[in-house]
Amino acid sequence: MYFVLAVCLVSDSLHIFGGKTRLFSKKFCLKNIFGNHLPKEDHKAETKEFTILSNGIQMPMIGLGVMHMHGNECVRAICEAVDAGYRMIDTAAIYGNEAAVGKGIRDSGIDREKLFITTKLWVQDADERHAKAAYEQSLRNLGLEYVDLFLIHQPLGDIYGAWRAMEKLYEEAKVRAIGVSNLNSGRLVDLSMHNRITPHVNQVEIHPFYSQEKAVQEMKNLGVQPEGWAPFAEGHNNIFRDKVLTDIGQKYGKTPAQVILRWNIERGVAVVPNPRSLPVSEKIMMCGISG
Ligand SMILES: NC(=O)c1ccc[n+]([C@@H]2O[C@H](COP(=O)([O-])OP(=O)(O)OC[C@H]3O[C@@H](n4cnc5c(N)ncnc54)[C@H](OP(=O)(O)O)[C@@H]3O)[C@@H](O)[C@H]2O)c1
Repeated sequence: MYFVLAVCLVSDSLHIFGGKTRLFSKKFCLKNIFGNHLPKEDHKAETKEFTILSNGIQMPMIGLGVMHMHGNECVRAICEAVDAGYRMIDTAAIYGNEAAVGKGIRDSGIDREKLFITTKLWVQDADERHAKAAYEQSLRNLGLEYVDLFLIHQPLGDIYGAWRAMEKLYEEAKVRAIGVSNLNSGRLVDLSMHNRITPHVNQVEIHPFYSQEKAVQEMKNLGVQPEGWAPFAEGHNNIFRDKVLTDIGQKYGKTPAQVILRWNIERGVAVVPNPRSLPVSEKIMMCGISG
């Protein structure tokens, strides 16, 4: 990955931040510049960059990860994110914040159908007998009638049984897409080969120190959308002061965080960053990374 990023430094032919790959509408770019002081209609600006999953549904390429957020912090973060243009939220049963996510969605005032909500099945429920009830519990927690994407959180327990239950939920149109998380290539191929439905998404750790080029390519070969968790490497290794990222950012007038997100999106990897401690203005800038 470092090589790829370094090439960006010397090549203007890579459309990292412009042209065809714009992530947000023009209005949203204005919002990047003017912060929250825009006429009301500009707050309707929203993400314009999507991927199409193998079942034909649209999934935004960038979403808000809410793993460490609870209560009012989570509610506020979702309202801010929706206002900033985020349309995807990534939660999980084990995060213990599905109720706050649901409140955030309602408080944001946006139509439910405009959002793409992901939640995940935790290990204790990863079998054929418990997966459906766990899904229904997540829906009750969230106060939603469906989620857009339901993932098996970890490759532990009876994931084959859990997958059969999830296939049934999908075939009954109770969830729009189903997938997995943290499956290596071998397990992903095996699960796909021995079941009717190939996972629509595999959410795995991906960041500049762990680019997972081969795994990403193998997912694409299988028709599975790669999605990267912890795109900022959880803030480790002084990532936001990293020299390669900083140099690229300087060249394009972007922050290292923006460089990381754009690098992933350009190579077809959806991302769910958690910019928790950033001021709203920078969160918005990160969301509108091509602005
Ligand atoms: N499927 C899975 O197994 C799995 C596992 C882990 C995560 N996830 C998903 O991925 C999402 C994101 O992962 P993550 O939160 O672990 O990691 P991350 O998005 O890589 O990094 C978030 C951390 O980096 C810090 N940070 C972010 N932007 C920064 C900036 N510009 N300058 C300085 N520090 C910054 C934040 O620090 P502060 O804490 O100080 O704000 C935050 O803790 C989660 O919310 C979750 O939805 C999924």
